[in-house]
Amino acid sequence: MLLTGLRGVGKTVLLNEIERQARAAGYLTMTIEAHEDKPLAPLIATHLRSLLFELDRMAGAGFKAKRGLQVLRSFVGSLKLAYGDFSIGLGIDPEVGTADSGDLEIDLPNLFVAVAEAAEERNAAVALFIDELQYFNHKELAALIMAMHRMQQRQLPVVLLGAGLPTLPGLAGESKSYAERLFSFPLVGALSEDDSMRALREPALAAGVAFADDALAEIFRLTRGYPYFLQEWGYQSWNLATKSPIALQDVRNATAVVIPRLDESFFRVRYDRLTSGEKTFLRAMASLGAGARRTSEIAAAMRVKPSSLGPVRDKLIKKGMVYSPAHGDLAFTVPLFDEFMIRTMPEFIVT
Ligand SMILES: Nc1ncnc2c1ncn2[C@@H]1O[C@H](COP(=O)(O)OP(=O)(O)OP(=O)(O)O)[C@@H](O)[C@H]1O
Ligand SMILES: [Mg+2]
Repeated sequence: MLLTGLRGVGKTVLLNEIERQARAAGYLTMTIEAHEDKPLAPLIATHLRSLLFELDRMAGAGFKAKRGLQVLRSFVGSLKLAYGDFSIGLGIDPEVGTADSGDLEIDLPNLFVAVAEAAEERNAAVALFIDELQYFNHKELAALIMAMHRMQQRQLPVVLLGAGLPTLPGLAGESKSYAERLFSFPLVGALSEDDSMRALREPALAAGVAFADDALAEIFRLTRGYPYFLQEWGYQSWNLATKSPIALQDVRNATAVVIPRLDESFFRVRYDRLTSGEKTFLRAMASLGAGARRTSEIAAAMRVKPSSLGPVRDKLIKKGMVYSPAHGDLAFTVPLFDEFMIRTMPEFIVT
């Protein structure tokens, strides 16, 4: 299962909760967070090492955990060529010829098979959690998808639970067209009005504090049900209110604190990574309002040719600032970012 959704909708929170439940159900779990410039292979090797040692320590006869470590050793050996002096302590000889071809799309599935067979021998099941999956490159995603395909074909006890931006299904499909059949892609989005209100009302009530209805309505109007924003408005309203029920005025006071705080942190960290050309592009996009836009509309707002925007558009997609919900369309990955761009660059002058 690969959860997808915009920034701050609760993908990581959900992934952590699923991991907690998996562990309670007896799975061995492994959690990885992908990064923009961190290759998959060394990251996963380090985690598989701990997992294999754990399998090796578990009671039961058999040699497959040891064999898994040997395969991991040969996998790691081949990584040295690609990533320099990468090494992890394994204290075991490599199984030469397995998972060491240097081609990740061949080696990763073989490594997964060795790990999964070790788990199977111990009557264990492994749940692999990977957050920010969209950061892996084409080849890495393809290798991971092939590895999971092999798990499914061989009915081996390894499952993948991932999360990423809405670009993920597209990236996965480009890497391997059968990805869409192999995984489900539940969409994590804003909460409904009812759910938003419950998310604020119920934890407050549990502490003996109520929210006035108009206060809740105002928070929903401002946040549009985005979990991270609900959290921020809930937090500040709670802190500023002096008595129960938390009133509309408390929410208004909170807004005066939350907006600058969001601008300084949540929005600003993303804004600061942009070049001035990228800022202009996003500002033009923001001037068209929230929701998906055609590149041609943005080009018209900037009074340039659509074709001239290709490179900056690609850069912004790579940086995870925008994504393409449908062919030719472009949307912000961060909710309310359009309003932030207008606040931050009030003057939008077409040059
Ligand atoms: N079930 C929840 N209960 C309480 N708060 C939540 C819940 N889900 C999300 N939140 C709030 O939303 C914030 C963002 O959630 P989370 O970090 O999981 O989002 P995300 O989708 O992983 O975002 P990103 O793409 O930026 O990593 C959390 O820090 C928390 O404040
Ligand atoms: Mg996250």
